[in-house]
Parts: sequence; structure tokens; C-alpha cells
Amino acid sequence: MPIGPLHPQEGFTASYLGVTTVTASSDGVLHTLFRSEQGGHEQVVLCQDRASGLKAVIALHNTDLGPGLGGTRFYPYESEEAAVADALNLSRGMSYKNALAGLDHGGGKAVIIGDPELIKTEELLLAYGRFVASLGGRYVTACDVGTYVADMDVVARECRWTTGRSPENGGAGDSSVLTAFGVFQGMRASAQHLWGDPTLRGRRVGVAGVGKVGHYLVEHLLEDGAEVVITDVREESVRRVTDRHPQVTVVADTEALIRVEGLDIYAPCALGGALNDESVPVLTASVVCGAANNQLAHPGVEKDLQDRGILYAPDYVVNAGGVIQVADELHGFDFDRCKKKAAKIFDTTLQIFARAKEEGVPPAAAADRIAEQRMAEARARR
Ligand SMILES: NC(=O)c1ccc[n+]([C@@H]2O[C@H](COP(=O)([O-])OP(=O)(O)OC[C@H]3O[C@@H](n4cnc5c(N)ncnc54)[C@H](O)[C@@H]3O)[C@@H](O)[C@H]2O)c1
Repeated sequence: MPIGPLHPQEGFTASYLGVTTVTASSDGVLHTLFRSEQGGHEQVVLCQDRASGLKAVIALHNTDLGPGLGGTRFYPYESEEAAVADALNLSRGMSYKNALAGLDHGGGKAVIIGDPELIKTEELLLAYGRFVASLGGRYVTACDVGTYVADMDVVARECRWTTGRSPENGGAGDSSVLTAFGVFQGMRASAQHLWGDPTLRGRRVGVAGVGKVGHYLVEHLLEDGAEVVITDVREESVRRVTDRHPQVTVVADTEALIRVEGLDIYAPCALGGALNDESVPVLTASVVCGAANNQLAHPGVEKDLQDRGILYAPDYVVNAGGVIQVADELHGFDFDRCKKKAAKIFDTTLQIFARAKEEGVPPAAAADRIAEQRMAEARARR
């Protein structure tokens, strides 16, 4: 899955296995769109509404499996080129994520350029909704960094292809419950693959970041009989967990967490880039499985993990509970139906590990191959 830079800079490049990302130079963007082998985006729409100050980019990477689905990132990009590059990278990532989640959706993503604290207004969101609506359902939007359920409620007033709305407006609301459930299924699959039994009973699991997703994950782990170690930079987040579960161990920071003796599983649930040249060599865990997006800091880290005998459950596979939820919202949200779909993350993760073993590649590469296969099969059926 591509690494969409949160702080894109001119000339930024990163690549992730089969999915090479786009540089932020205008040459890089156009080259990727029309000429390079990593290109293949179907459609990119540049949107401007002068009255509200909206500048947005909507990118559709691949719609072989169905309409592109992915959130709207609202971010103060350093340049328009950086915004286009991010939209291209993120939309490609959504093609892979949606394919592996078993959804009938392709990859799409939008970015709105600017500081949401400064320029986000109702007028701007309505204008954005009209642009999304103009695509006639080829792109379905949702929340991402800088956009929230309340914003999607506004966008939905102009556009029926909007998910991530509040329950009062027909939406499914907070997606972190199912995201945590999906990550837990990924962990159970990791345990099954490595130790021959899906239970986490007696396993020591470290959760870095006990925010919306992390604290629900802790509940699943405790219920299953795991021993849980946590860390978070926010004291309130830590307290919310320890007030309810005094048996949980707290360590000072992620540096300490990844070195905990006897740690079986490390779950990054805060920011991206958790797996890097500093952390991988000192990790005590045998498994990495967490909710954070873009955990691999750069290409090659997945190989470093493999070389150290650490099993990595690809982030975009195990954290798909959220996208499964927003896709379901299009059909009238049903929590139980959605939970059943999210439970399949267990089988998908096992399938990825099996394929990785069979083909002698890291699980991240096997995941990419399975996603590409599903997209190719859909294309062939057309
Ligand atoms: N919410 C979802 O449905 C969803 C879906 C897919 C992926 N994700 C990804 O999962 C991760 C967590 O999402 P969330 O919704 O729980 O976010 P959140 O902001 O609610 O929680 C993140 C937590 O991490 C803590 N944190 C930040 N920096 C830290 C650090 N250096 N060390 C330790 N803790 C730190 C924060 O204080 C916060 O409590 C993000 O990477 C997000 O992109 C979330």
C-alpha cells in the first residue's frame, strides 16, 4: 500500500512493494498519470470554488471492483502538486485496501487543500459535495484526517454518495469499534499461524496508542485472557484504560514498549512509520499487528521484519473494519452484517500468511499480490 505522506514535500518519493508512489513535482504527477508503469489512475478531478475558497483533488485509481471509495483528507499541503501526489497515492492505497476487504469498491480518495481550522466552512463543504455529486457515484466519499462525521453530514446535503455520516443522518458514526474488532481478528490469525491456536490467552500484547481504536482493542484482548501493556502520550487516554482495568501495565513510551521482555505481539495504534530502522532491530515481539496506517516507514522494512523472524500482519488488511463499515452504510447500516464482514479479516490474514510462506515473500508483498489478483479477475469479467 502506498505511503501517503502526511507532510508531503517537493520531490517526496516513497514506494511500497508493487505500489510505487508519486513524487510531488508536477513532472512526477503527470508522468505517473499518463506514462509510467506505476500509473494507471483512471481519473483525476481538480475542483475549485472561488466563492468558498475550495480547492480539492479527487482521484480515482481503479474502479474494476466498483465505485471508488475512500475518505476526504483536509490538509494544509505545501503545494498543489503535493496535494495531487497525496490524492494519487492514497487512492491507489484504497484500491488495495478495498480489494482485500472483499468490498465491491475500487480505490478513490479526495484531498481538500488548506488548514481545516482556518478555512473549513459549511459553504466550502457544500461546494465540495457538489463536486463529488458531479461524478455520479463513481466516487464515494467518507472521513479522513481533518474531516469528521459532522462534516460528512454537511457534504451529504449535496451528495448522496457520502458515507461516514452521523447515525441521526442515516450514517454509521464512529468506525473505531469495528476497526478494533478487525485488528483483533488479525491478531488471532497471527496467533493461529505462528502458535497453532487463535487464542491470545496468556500472550503479552503491547498496544502503543490507546485512543479511539486502541482502547477498544484492549477490551478484546483482556476478554480473551491476554496480558496487556500500553503506552500513550496523552495521560487521559491511559487513565481511561487503567481506571477500568487496573491490571493493565503502563510503560513510559513506545521506546519502552517495543523492548518489553517477553512481549509476544506489538500493536502500533497511534501514528504511521512505527516500523523503521530504529525500532525493528530492538523489537522483542514475534508479531506486529495494529491499527495505525502506513506502519512501514520505508520500502525494505517488511524484509527486515521477515529477516528477524517477526510476523507482520499488513496494516491495511487488519485495519479495514472502518472502510467495511462505511461501505455498508451505503446500503443502510447494519452493525451485525458489518461485524460478520469484519470477522473475515481473520481468514484473509491467514490466507496472506499462507501465500507469503508458499511464495517466499513477506506478508506485505503477498497481500499486494492477492489484491492485484482480485482486481484483475474483476477486470476480466467485464
Ligand atoms: N478510527 C478508525 O476507524 C481507523 C481506521 C483505520 C485506521 N486507523 C488508524 O489507526 C490509528 C489510530 O486511530 P484512532 O482513530 O484510534 O486515533 P486517535 O487519535 O483516537 O488515537 C491515537 C492515540 O495515539 C496516541 N499517540 C499519539 N502519538 C503517540 C506516540 N508517539 N506514542 C504513543 N501514543 C501516541 C494519541 O494520544 C491517541 O490517544 C491511526 O493511525 C489511524 O489512521 C483508524
